[in-house]
Amino acid sequence: MHQGLQDWVDEIAKLTQPDEIVWCDGSEEEYERLINEQVSDGDLTPLNPDSYPNCFLARSDPQDVARVEHLTFICCDKEDDAGPTNNWMAPAEAEARVKPLFEGAMKGRKMYVVPYIMGPVGSDLSEVGVEITDSPYVAINMRIMTRMGKVALDRLGDTGTFVKGLHSLGDLSPDRRYILHFPQRREIWSIGSGYGGNALLGKKCFALRIASTMARDEGWLAEHMLILGLESPTGDVTYVAAAFPSACGKTNLAMVLPPASQKGWKVWTVGDDIAWMRFDDDGQLYAINPEHGFFGVAPGTSLKTNPNALYSLQGNSIFTNVALTDNNEPWWEGLSDPPAHATDWRGNDWTPSSKNKAAHPNSRFTAPAEQCPGISSKWEDPKGVPISAIVFGGRRARTAPLVYQAFDWDHGVYVGASVASETTAAQQGAEVGVIRRDPFAMLPFCGYNMADYFAHWFSIGDRKGAKLPKIFHVNWFRTDEDGKFIWPGFGENVRVLRWIRGRCLDEVDGAETPIGYVPTQEAFDLRGIEEQIPAEVLADLLEINKEDWAPELADQREFFEKFGERLPAEIWEQHAALCKRLGL
Ligand code: OXD
Ligand code: MN
Repeated sequence: MHQGLQDWVDEIAKLTQPDEIVWCDGSEEEYERLINEQVSDGDLTPLNPDSYPNCFLARSDPQDVARVEHLTFICCDKEDDAGPTNNWMAPAEAEARVKPLFEGAMKGRKMYVVPYIMGPVGSDLSEVGVEITDSPYVAINMRIMTRMGKVALDRLGDTGTFVKGLHSLGDLSPDRRYILHFPQRREIWSIGSGYGGNALLGKKCFALRIASTMARDEGWLAEHMLILGLESPTGDVTYVAAAFPSACGKTNLAMVLPPASQKGWKVWTVGDDIAWMRFDDDGQLYAINPEHGFFGVAPGTSLKTNPNALYSLQGNSIFTNVALTDNNEPWWEGLSDPPAHATDWRGNDWTPSSKNKAAHPNSRFTAPAEQCPGISSKWEDPKGVPISAIVFGGRRARTAPLVYQAFDWDHGVYVGASVASETTAAQQGAEVGVIRRDPFAMLPFCGYNMADYFAHWFSIGDRKGAKLPKIFHVNWFRTDEDGKFIWPGFGENVRVLRWIRGRCLDEVDGAETPIGYVPTQEAFDLRGIEEQIPAEVLADLLEINKEDWAPELADQREFFEKFGERLPAEIWEQHAALCKRLGL
């Protein structure tokens, strides 16, 4: 037995006073038992066993449906180490203000000790965490999202290190809800929320906020990126890691199915949300997906938009805050034609004429990654997959072209630092449709001062012998004067991935523009969509418009100024060089 773990569990039990302590072993029997208990308590509803075997519906508190950025804090000694884009709380204040909320918080409840591995079993890139929670919903979700139970205790052994995550539902009041991160002592405290991003501590809290600080200290990268492999008709596979702000279609791209016109091309899914990346001794960057499942946004997911996601969630999955049809199947806006009657996510009657949405816009599915028909044969490879390209993207009606390639690493880091997107419903409290700067899609997930984070990325470029991936930016969301999307997106995005692969292999041309290289007309395959996207429309999609870039650069400047002296000089050099190239 690991004495440090035992001592911590004892300490937390003393603090929170649960009725019972349950050590989770991750077994099938345990999973069934936890499910059955929640079904008996009315917290889970079994779904149609024929169409959704072993699937369940959970409804959260209506006030607890999304991540809460304003209640998420980095608790390091100095405020400046958290930086201007994070909320900061002094560790002493956390002790005084938040710790008391845990006192007796688990009275009348069971305390689950959930050991888990982030990353493939046996990988040097993986890390162990232990979450203590009073939510059985968290325990069963953690079993899908991580390698949970005995396997993690075995890896931990008697003396291994682990990230501590303490979670309690508390009284679920938004007034007593806090998500705290202690990067120095690699610890997380979360109270007052049962929602995935706030409560499944392996995901955003550990794999991004805490792991980003570990990565900075140890010379690797913990990123909010999907990982996919693009296989060519001749069988070579190019691996790409891509960062998009929340709700820009990361899961869709990770699982994209090439349309019939892209004969012979395949896309393999390695991960849909998080990438941990490290250089090997030969200077090649390798990535693992630290997760074991998908925690995807349900609305908008359909056979048309993401068939592989739908196949992934057809069994052994948990649905949260979706609607329930009279046939006991999950339903959400965009899945199919609306049913004549359903029960909405709050448990009320719903018909297509109802004013409210049937499913919450941030309703989710938790599905085992191995059920994805396109899962890569290498997704659990302990070594990871070799990354050739890093792609950034955002939801921009104008400004950013369909795709461009950064001139070099430093320029690419700048492209990542200037990612921005229009806000969506995944961020509770945010007004929808507003441009929000979201560097590296990490703004809500970086566990330290983002100025230092940019410096860390620049420093990677100075690594001796590193085979640096090429860096790109994509934008599927350009609209015309009527606000309609110009690019068809979804499966057709494979054409963009093909150009990216071609650039990595030095096989296709790029035309130099002030912001980077864009595809030449000849280098971009439009066969099969020429009617929708004739050459002039492709030219529009790739257009770089000074009138758009002038306000964009001003907005970037205003954002970067927040970091003051701490901002690496390279950012201002890149900004100045871009202004100059644009003649601004
Ligand atoms: C997520 C997010 O839930 O990025 O993955 O918000
Ligand atoms: Mn995400």
